[in-house]
Amino acid sequence: MKDQLINIKDSALAQINECVKMDEIESLRVKYLGKKGEITDILKGMGKLSKDERPVIGKVANEVRSEIEEAIASKKEGIKAIEKNAKLQEEVLDVTMPGKEFKVGKKHPITQIIDEVKYIFTGMGFKVAQGPEIETVFNNFDALNAPKNHPSRDTSDTFYIDDNLLLRTQTSPVQIRTMKSTTPPIKIIAPGRCFRFDAPDATHSPMFHQIEGLVIGEHVTMAELKGALNEFVRQLFGESTKTKFRPHNFPFTEPSAEVDVTCFKCKGEGCSVCKGEGWIEILGAGMVHPNVLRNCGIDPEKYSGFAFGMGVDRIAMLKYEIDDIRLLFENDMRFLNQF
Ligand code: DAH
Repeated sequence: MKDQLINIKDSALAQINECVKMDEIESLRVKYLGKKGEITDILKGMGKLSKDERPVIGKVANEVRSEIEEAIASKKEGIKAIEKNAKLQEEVLDVTMPGKEFKVGKKHPITQIIDEVKYIFTGMGFKVAQGPEIETVFNNFDALNAPKNHPSRDTSDTFYIDDNLLLRTQTSPVQIRTMKSTTPPIKIIAPGRCFRFDAPDATHSPMFHQIEGLVIGEHVTMAELKGALNEFVRQLFGESTKTKFRPHNFPFTEPSAEVDVTCFKCKGEGCSVCKGEGWIEILGAGMVHPNVLRNCGIDPEKYSGFAFGMGVDRIAMLKYEIDDIRLLFENDMRFLNQF
């Protein structure tokens, strides 16, 4: 029996020595030391031994068991260390390697201007409203008090979808939608795309951008219109910018005005940006026509208001000194990256 134990020990130690994986060593542990393991088996047969032999064999069995246990434990430690090293090797990070370059986009110049205008007006308490690019003829023209024979209604100026629908020619219909869906006081700006049947050239594009403004309340006067626009141009073009209101005619405002600002480049001296004028026209504005208020269910005896509309593309072109509107929509990165 003693020889048997020694044999078991020798073959166990040899096998343990050859192990390289955790699960291999674990199955060896079960094979030799487990409940049904080889040593346990032998110990079970000890009952048949004589009284003298029993303690001798018992001692040998215990020694063999603890030797195998120790060999397993130390092998496990060894394998753990090897596995840990391998993992570290695998995860090695070379911080001196060049990083992967990824390109971060930037805002289109039109979006930059819209964001700037939004920032200025929201700072004055305006909310940002939106309307659809496909509009009803009613919202785009009738509700805005455009006479039936107004030239802008012509099919040579406007993209019609059918008798009742068109691609909006201005952001002004957002005024109508807002007045119909909310009660005064109203203070909104509405940026968006507009469409007109224009052949593209340096200053025309069939798709362009406007920002509409609308304020409705009790006792709103033209003084507030001037105050709001003066503050706006001061923030957009610089502290010293002045405005000039020239009488004009729009169907939806009375009185109406076109608004010029002192040239931000030459400060009024006359230069290539303002074509020697010293002034640049940037928007249309006026006091909301009582018919427009009525069309939207607002009592013109109680409420009054002002409105304005500006061409974003034109402002971007002036501000960035771009001489051809088509450049804005060609998506040439060599051009767009300059802004
Ligand atoms: N809708 C006008 C246009 O496209 C611009 C405009 C002028 C809007 C005066 C207004 C306004 O709200 O009061 O030419």
